[in-house]
This record gives sequence, C-alpha cells and structure tokens, in this order.
Amino acid sequence: MRKKLLKKIAVVTTGGDAPGMNAAIRGIVRIAASKKFRVLGFRRGWEGLITNTSTPLSPRSVSGILQLGGTMLHTSRCPEFEKKEGIKKVTESLASNHIDGLVVIGGNGSFKGALELSTHTDTLIVGIPASIDNDIFGTEETIGFDTAVNTAVAEIDKIRDTAVSHERVFMIEVMGRERGFLALEIGLTVGAEIILLPEVPYRKEKLFEIVRENRAKGKKSGLIIAAEGIGDTRVLAAQIQQNTQTEVRLSIIGYAQRGGNPTARSRLLASLFANRAVELLSGEEGNRIVGLHDGRIVAVDLHKSCKTEKTLDPNLLRLAKLLAT
Ligand code: F6P
Repeated sequence: MRKKLLKKIAVVTTGGDAPGMNAAIRGIVRIAASKKFRVLGFRRGWEGLITNTSTPLSPRSVSGILQLGGTMLHTSRCPEFEKKEGIKKVTESLASNHIDGLVVIGGNGSFKGALELSTHTDTLIVGIPASIDNDIFGTEETIGFDTAVNTAVAEIDKIRDTAVSHERVFMIEVMGRERGFLALEIGLTVGAEIILLPEVPYRKEKLFEIVRENRAKGKKSGLIIAAEGIGDTRVLAAQIQQNTQTEVRLSIIGYAQRGGNPTARSRLLASLFANRAVELLSGEEGNRIVGLHDGRIVAVDLHKSCKTEKTLDPNLLRLAKLLAT
C-alpha cells in the first residue's frame, strides 16, 4: 500500500496522434494545478521517458492548444519500449524525476505498454483513450474519433458529387488498422451503398452482385467504404470493375484523418477524461483507464481493457444495411 501523498504527475502522448490530445494535455495540467500537483510532460511518447526528455508544464504553457490537432508533446512509435532495457530506462526516469502518477494518452498499443510498465514501477498509471480507431475496450468513444469521422465525411461528400456526375462507383479506403469502427460510422453517415469491415466477412461474388443490382434498380453511382483492414483495396476495386462492367475509382483518404482541429465533441471528451484521470490519481488510484459509458465518465481496469476485445455495435451494423437499400 502506498503511503506518500501525490505531488508530481507526468503526462505523455504515445502511438498514433489523435485530434484532441492537446485538449487532454491542457486539461490535465490545469486540473492538476488546481490540486497543487506539479506536471512534467515527456516528449515523443515512450521515447521521451527512455531518454529522460521532459518539460515542466504550467497552466500558461498550455494556453492556445485546446483547438489544435496533433500533440504539443509530439509522439512516436517506440520499439525500444517493447524490450526489457527500454522499460528499465522508463522506470529510472520516473524514479529520478520523482513522478507519483503517470497519465498515458494514447491507443490500445500504448495501454499494453502501460500495463507492462505497471508491473515494474510504483508510479500510479492512468490511461486516457485517444485514437482515431475507437478500438479500446472500456470506452464507447476515444478522443479524436469524432473528428476523424467528420474529416472523412467532409471529404467523401465531395467525392459523392463527382461520383454522381460521372455515374461511377467509388471505393473509399479509410483508416482503423485491423478494426472497422471508423469505417462503419463513416459509411453510415455518408450513406454508403456498401461498407466493408474486417470483422464482417464478405464474398466477392456477393459484392459484385450487389453492385450489379444497384445499377439495375437505378443507382447510377455509388460509394463503397472500405476499412483499411480488409486487405488490398486496389485489387478489389479493379475486380469490382472487371466483374460488374461498372467504372470504379479508388480514393484513399489516409493520414488527413489523423489531423485537423478537434471537433467540439473531441475537445469536450478530452477535457472530461483529463478531469477524471487527475481525480483518480489524486485518490491514489492507478492501473485504470478512463472511459465514456452511457453518458458518464467511468474508470475501467487497465488489465481488463487491454485483454478484452471491443466489439462493433450490432445495431449500427443492422441500420447501415437497412439504409443502404
Ligand atoms: O492507430 C491509428 C492509425 O492511424 C491507424 O488507423 C493506422 O492503421 C495507423 O495508425 C498508422 O500508423 P503509422 O502512423 O505508424 O503509419
């Protein structure tokens, strides 16, 4: 059982960036200051903890970042942190800087790293889910997801215009790594005729048939939203064209989905998560992630979050099918 009172918090943003990470940093620093905790920001994700590269953060040093995409602390993928030597260096940095609580802002890869770290340190660890993929168990939404959906929808609405003019089918690849949360919500909100998700197996023949049927019932153009996790979309787009006598174009939205000013929703979620994360630490609670559940901000066991797979909402899947007729 820990006895000392919490005085100093560290914050780090790790893995792929997500719009709203800055809003979360700002929230942590300002809530921490209201409780008289000092805050240190480590740079470039786990790498900053390995090399002991940090900067003190104050309410003034986080002015003007609420509305900015990216992360002022920068981030990186850090293979060194996956090795014993890397973890050892991180624990040394935490100890030499007298860090009582560490807030990890990142995705599920970052949380797996945090879970491993928690077995080597006394520092309390709290995770704030931030990822455009929205694939973290324990929260209905991650910071940045809403922004990424809106960014993609704005692009795809433009693509719909040209699809209609040219009477073409467009396949649009969106991010999401191995999961289809982004693709499903984007597909639903652009009115896609077809949504292809890694979680839902499809037969190519069936896909060709739907494209042909859509033509036959008067749909001269169409949108197919494909999650990047389904495989090579270039090959698939070409096969659809060949097998349906329909002109098919492919558009890959890519990294634009990770950038841009966070939506109001992403900023609000970041601020609420930050508040709860600092509250948990001030109550000496570690090994948790914060999350959104039924409109409330909750705390979930870090181990459970890492070991449980989040599933797609079956109601959204059903609705997407119904609306695509
Ligand atoms: O996890 C966020 C994400 O943008 C995924 O959607 C994508 O597959 C991946 O990161 C890309 O990673 P990297 O930035 O390492 O190329």
